[in-house]
This record gives sequence, structure tokens and C-alpha cells, in this order.
Amino acid sequence: MSNMNGKRLLTSILLTGALTAPFAWGADDSTATTNKLVIHADQANDTISRNLYGHFSEHLGRCIYEGIWVGEDSSIPNTRGIRNDVVAALKQIKVPVLRWPGGCFADEYHWKDGIGPRSQRPAMINTHWGGVVENNHFGTHEFLDLCEQLGCEPYLCGNLGSGSVQEMQQWVEYITFDGVSPMAELRKQNGHPEPWKFKFFAVGNENWGCGGNMTPEFYADQYRRYATYLRNFGGNRIYKVACGPSGGNYHWTETLMQQAGRQMAGLALHYYCGSGKRTKLATEMDEGDWFAQLQRALQMEELVTRHSAIMDKYDPDKRVALIVDEWGTWHVVEPGTNPGFLYQQNTLRDALVAGVTLNIFNNHCSRVKMANIAQMINVLQAMILTDKEKMILTPTYHVFEMYTVHHDAKLLPADVQSADYQSGSATLPQVNASASRDQAGRIHVTLCNLDPQHPAELACDLQGANTSKISGRVLTAPEMNAHNTFAQPETLKPAAFVGARIAAGGFAATLPAKSVVVLELE
Ligand code: AHR
Repeated sequence: MSNMNGKRLLTSILLTGALTAPFAWGADDSTATTNKLVIHADQANDTISRNLYGHFSEHLGRCIYEGIWVGEDSSIPNTRGIRNDVVAALKQIKVPVLRWPGGCFADEYHWKDGIGPRSQRPAMINTHWGGVVENNHFGTHEFLDLCEQLGCEPYLCGNLGSGSVQEMQQWVEYITFDGVSPMAELRKQNGHPEPWKFKFFAVGNENWGCGGNMTPEFYADQYRRYATYLRNFGGNRIYKVACGPSGGNYHWTETLMQQAGRQMAGLALHYYCGSGKRTKLATEMDEGDWFAQLQRALQMEELVTRHSAIMDKYDPDKRVALIVDEWGTWHVVEPGTNPGFLYQQNTLRDALVAGVTLNIFNNHCSRVKMANIAQMINVLQAMILTDKEKMILTPTYHVFEMYTVHHDAKLLPADVQSADYQSGSATLPQVNASASRDQAGRIHVTLCNLDPQHPAELACDLQGANTSKISGRVLTAPEMNAHNTFAQPETLKPAAFVGARIAAGGFAATLPAKSVVVLELE
């Protein structure tokens, strides 16, 4: 409610009779604002794909090496070279799908360098990310093993920028062909007689930039050519994803949908949100940076709305998915670390970015079918940070864990009439939300209070459902820059939430300042 303060909003709700019965307001906090939420439980049409909660792991910094792969001889407990502690933690957030090997790295990666005996694999220079030596010890077999350990779908990104059609074609053949062929024989020699099955395959990465600096017209032609040779062997069915736009490049989407829309199953959008000038460490930002960061995060709403509208023109039946296969915060690297490794801390602000972005994806689930936060471990907006044998969970990890309730649930459209969170003359909606009903019939509502100073009173009108029991969890902290460290790993973790209560027609809640809340209604 732009320019409407809390008291005026409450007055307007009562005058218009929008709330059928008075709500018992929560904590007596005179600084709290008032907000209204209408959940349409009688309009459950679309499913929130669990793949909206996907991840991305690139050969970049310490994501793969150290973060995931320590090798079979490591003193860090591992299963076939893959860290046990990391796998156990990631299983808690039910990672549905994992994108690999890049990123920019993908368009320089030659998959045949990453198979066979590890001691014989050629090394290469990782020119994009720190110029370090890549020994190729983590390759196709190791990645597919990781996916099996996590119980997630693999999402491979092929090399269109510097690789050949034949190379890309043979990768799919190597992994999936169940017959007699040179690639199937090679796989058998490398110890995997049975083919794997996999679905998601991206034809290049950021081909408007690090993946070859192409025009959309040129890439559309290349996409059609490469995609032609990605064969379906046996019962395997490849879901082909085309490189999509960077942020608000709507011309790219228009061109790709027009010229290659019929050959693709998905179009991949990338969008990162920094705090602006990227001059301050994640842990040293002030309220101006907080506001700017969340303002940029909320731009995702406009991006998916406008890209979806273009896609609707060419694909009104929504056959082609919008896939946001890189998103997240991008801060200054931590002091003393390699600038090419993109290692950053993760604070309560990152948790809010995750919370609002995931709510946006939920609310657009009729078109957005997959998203992959960048990146899973030790890079950008990570779930996990490691230091040798130690591991900590970030605030973003906790948001992903809290939001698992939405995986494959039915979206319940949610209208928020929010008070303003104001900074100077600029405003943001203070409250951001999404809701769903799971297969057991429970309703879950995820709510973010963006305002770091003011609690938000929320009155919810639950239409088309009854509820008699409400419970919840909250992620918040006294400081905006609160974060977990190896010395204090549990500064931020979810706690029981007691600020919600059943009210006539729905429920009411008091959301603490700067918080992410999940509610369960039965
Ligand atoms: O995630 C880091 C990099 O950001 C990726 O490699 C690239 O695709 C994007 O520009």
C-alpha cells in the first residue's frame, strides 16, 4: 500500500469490511505496522515444482574441490571421495536438482578430460576462476555419484562456446546409451556398465557473454543445431534448456522464443543481486545497503513477469519453462581470499533475499519450473561454508530448509496488502508471502518482514479453508549483519515461532522485524 501508513491501512480494512471479524492483534508494539493477506485456498491450480529449490555447483573456487570433493584418501570422512558431512546436511534441505559443471566453466570444459583413471586425467587451467590448475578429478562419474548420494536429479550444462556438436552429442551417448557404441564401450571400460538416466541438459551457458559473446540470432541458430543431436536413448528423455537472457534483456527472450521456442523445453534466465557498488563486505553493510539489496532482489518479480509475458505470446500453453538457473547475492569476497574464488559471507540479509525470491518463484510456478541458486558451497550465496574438516550452515541454508514444505505442493494464490518499508523517499512492500497446500492437506505460508526496524502485524483472511491449529518457525536475529562463523556456527538458526494465532476467518501474526517465518495450518 504505497504511502499508506499502518493505522490508515487498518482503518481501510475495517471500513471496507474486508476482514469479516476483528482480529486479536498480537504483541502490543506501537511501532508495528499493519498488513493484510488474503489466501485463496479455493484456487489451488498450479503445482510448485520442487525443482524451484534447485542448486548450482561450478568448478569455481572451493565449491567442488574441498566443498564437495576431498578424494578417497582424505582424512575428512567421505564416500568415494565425496564429503559425508556435506551430503548429510544437503539431504536435510532435499536438494531436488543440481546444475554442473558451470557457469562460465562449462563452455571451456571438455568432458572426456574428466573420465577414466584419475591419475591419467589431463590437467587444465581454470581461466575464468582464479587461473588455478583443474586436475579433472571430479568428472562425470563423480558428479553422477554425488547426485545419487543426494537423491537429486542431475542437470548438465554442455559446452557450446568452445566445444563441438560431436562432443556434446557424445556426452549424452556416453551417459545414457544402452547398446553397442564407442561411447557406451568407453563408459563400460570406466567401470559403469549400466547407463545412467538423466533429464536436464543446458545447451551452453551465458552465450551472450562468457559462453561466446553471441548475438541472440546467432545463438538461436547454434542452439537448434546442437540440440538436434542430443538424442533420446532407450527410455531416457532429454529436457533441453536454451541459454536465456541476462536480467532484463527482453530482446534475447523474444528472439529465442521466436526462432527456437519449438525446439526447447526451457529457457534459462540469470539474475544476481548485489548491494549496489559492491564495495563493502557482506558483514559490514548498513541499513542503506540492506534496503538496496532487497530492492534488487524484488526486481525478480518484474523479470519473471515480463519474460513470462513474452513467452506467453509464443507459447500460450506454457510448454516451455522459464528456468532461473543462476540467481542469488554477489558481494565483495572475504579478506585474504582469492578474488576469483567468489567466497563471501552470508548474513540475515541473504536469508531475506532467499525468502523473497523463493516466494516470487512459488507465485510464478505456472511458468517458472526450475531455479538454481548460485552456488551450493563456498561460492556466492552458499548453503554451506567449509574450512578444511569444519562445516557451517548459512542463514540461506536455513531458509531453504524452512521452505521444503512447498516442494511439489499446490500453490494457493496469496494477495498481500503491505505497509511500506521506507528509506528516504523510496519504499518497498514490508511483507512478502507465498502459500501452498501439501499432499497431506496442510497449508504452509512463508512470510518475510523486510523492515529491519519494525515488526509487522498481519491479518490473514483464509478463503476456502478452515483451520484450527497453527504453528511456525522463525529465522531472525538482533543484528542485520548476523551470520554464522566457524567459531559461532549457530548464531542464526530457526526457532519456534509463537507470534501467530487463529482468528475468525483465518489467522493473525506478528512478524518480528527482519525475519523469515514459516507457518503451518491444520
Ligand atoms: O556463478 C558465477 C558465474 O556467474 C557463472 O559462472 C556465470 O554463469 C555467471 O556469470
